[in-house]
Amino acid sequence: MGKDVIIACDFPSADETMAFLDKFGDRRPFVKIGMELYYAEGPAMVRTLKERGHKIFLDLKLHDIPNTVKKAMNVLMKLDVDMCNVHAGGTIKMMEAGLEGLTREDGSRPLLIAVTQLTSTTQERMKEDLLINEDMEKVVSHYALNTKKAGLDGVVCSPLESPAVHTLCGEEFLTVTPGVRFADDSKGDQARVTTPAQARELGSDYIVVGRSITSAAAPLEAYERCIREFVD
Ligand code: C5P
Repeated sequence: MGKDVIIACDFPSADETMAFLDKFGDRRPFVKIGMELYYAEGPAMVRTLKERGHKIFLDLKLHDIPNTVKKAMNVLMKLDVDMCNVHAGGTIKMMEAGLEGLTREDGSRPLLIAVTQLTSTTQERMKEDLLINEDMEKVVSHYALNTKKAGLDGVVCSPLESPAVHTLCGEEFLTVTPGVRFADDSKGDQARVTTPAQARELGSDYIVVGRSITSAAAPLEAYERCIREFVD
């Protein structure tokens, strides 16, 4: 699959989402539906955007006992999204169960990726709050390797971690990277950020961009700037 920009549609309702996407005219960007929008509007939102012709990354970050994740993934499989995810922190066994639940009878399935450490987590918080003393890069690499062992397609990580993940897990192993800002934007609550151009240089396969597009005065222009910097 080629490089692409995924817009994080972090909106509280279908109305706001559609009003936002209407600004894109005939363009049908790859979109991410996260917890906020999915919990507000449910599977109907996924169906609406699929029918409109968007590719969908359903970002629900499942993290539970393996059996529960398997059953939940089996439900998500029927929604026919293009990409969904789990937390690698749920263990290899949980990721394997998720993959099994997501796989259709004919063996096809959406892409399944795992979150390593959230891009909002700093080294200090990981140490103090999670009692993980290793370096961020080592933790992310270890979780990425677990993800690969479980048979998933890639990880969500910071663009800064893409090179190490690709070296360890191979170039085909996908890095889907949020924490992307234009040089002139504020970081918000993200800790490990790069620009779209830097993400490209670092080898990210997909960038996930939220507020730099959704809060822009001209969202279509901001999206096109991302495409220019990251894809073209
Ligand atoms: O607005 P912003 O560009 O920071 O949005 C980033 C999006 O990526 C959010 O929807 C957030 O939930 C998601 N995400 C993240 N870090 C991860 C996984 C997902 O920021 N590790």
